[in-house]
Amino acid sequence: MRLFLLILPEIFAKLIILSHKAIILGIESSCDDTSVAITENQRLLSNVIASQEVHKKYGGVVPELASRAHQMNIIPVLSEALKQANIKLSDVNAIAFTNGPGLLGSLMVGSSFAKGLSIALAVPLIEVNHLHGHVLSHFIIENDSDKNFPDFPHLCLLISGGHTQIVRVNSPYDMTILGSTIDDAAGEAFDKAAKLLGFGYPGGPIIDHYAKPGNARRFYFPKPAVADLNFSFSGLKTSLLYFLKEELRKNNQFVIQNLNDLCASYQQAIVEILMEKTLKAIEQTNIRCISLSGGVSANSEIRKQFATLEQKGIRVFIPPIKYTTDNAAMIAIAGYYKYLKKTFSSLDVVPFAKLNI
Ligand code: KG4
Ligand code: ZN
Repeated sequence: MRLFLLILPEIFAKLIILSHKAIILGIESSCDDTSVAITENQRLLSNVIASQEVHKKYGGVVPELASRAHQMNIIPVLSEALKQANIKLSDVNAIAFTNGPGLLGSLMVGSSFAKGLSIALAVPLIEVNHLHGHVLSHFIIENDSDKNFPDFPHLCLLISGGHTQIVRVNSPYDMTILGSTIDDAAGEAFDKAAKLLGFGYPGGPIIDHYAKPGNARRFYFPKPAVADLNFSFSGLKTSLLYFLKEELRKNNQFVIQNLNDLCASYQQAIVEILMEKTLKAIEQTNIRCISLSGGVSANSEIRKQFATLEQKGIRVFIPPIKYTTDNAAMIAIAGYYKYLKKTFSSLDVVPFAKLNI
């Protein structure tokens, strides 16, 4: 009886949380997208993203410029998110924000802003691991018809500009890495190749675009031999570098004349590396449900080839393009799960440039 009385307030608090509709405001500022999203429980009310154009001419994200742009964008992005969600700031029940991994200066803008809002509104603050956000982006509900979610456990192939991992997702709170890149991420393989071909940043969408009419079997790029479920992409980029050097020496128009086939063949090598390790992970774990997430999962060829796994009886979840690259909707969803468990952060929480899943 005494024990029951002791745990009664806890049960009561949980019941209140479960029975009421939680309005979560999510903030994402880990790299070069400033985003604010609002959810009511899992249901998305708004998701506003300001992408920073300033980096394009530098061939990569310039950290200092990114922090400044976040400072300039965050208030207008918040105002627009509130407007689109048709709510007032005072309706918000918790503030979720990305606390890493990412660029420290960029993270500081989002985390300080989140703390300010949490103090002003007297609502809980929830730190969210950006990578958890990418994984949980599959649990965003847009319409009442959205009822098809990945099972637990499932495998998530997380492919972004900074990460390439196969994650075993046991629950929204429990994820383990089964394999990851030992050097470059898949997104870097795209971005660095695009740079070699003379394009700006981000290179992934540009390679994807030029690859479309190309012949993916025209050129061969050797795939690395990496143990277990780990990946490597730096050798692929180097082989493209030497190949281009050699061909350009013979014909300085080589890239222009073969652009589509070059992009298609290089992209195909990346798809094959990702596919091979994913199939190995499915075989090793016997988990026949996979999801893709992260910016690189916007790639049209990756989406097409992974969708064919359905024919082998594997459940495949490919996110809508808008949830592949960085967005605050995924941060709000991950924040909502923590809200359910009342896993709140104190005001002295600090962001981390490096953070594991
Ligand atoms: O997840 P994300 O927005 O940021 C990080 O957390 O890193 O991913 C950005 C990465 C960049 O490397 C970009 O080139 C790549 O995603 N990306 C693509 C495509 N769209 C974005 N890579 C290949 N094909 C695409 N269509
Ligand atoms: Zn990301």
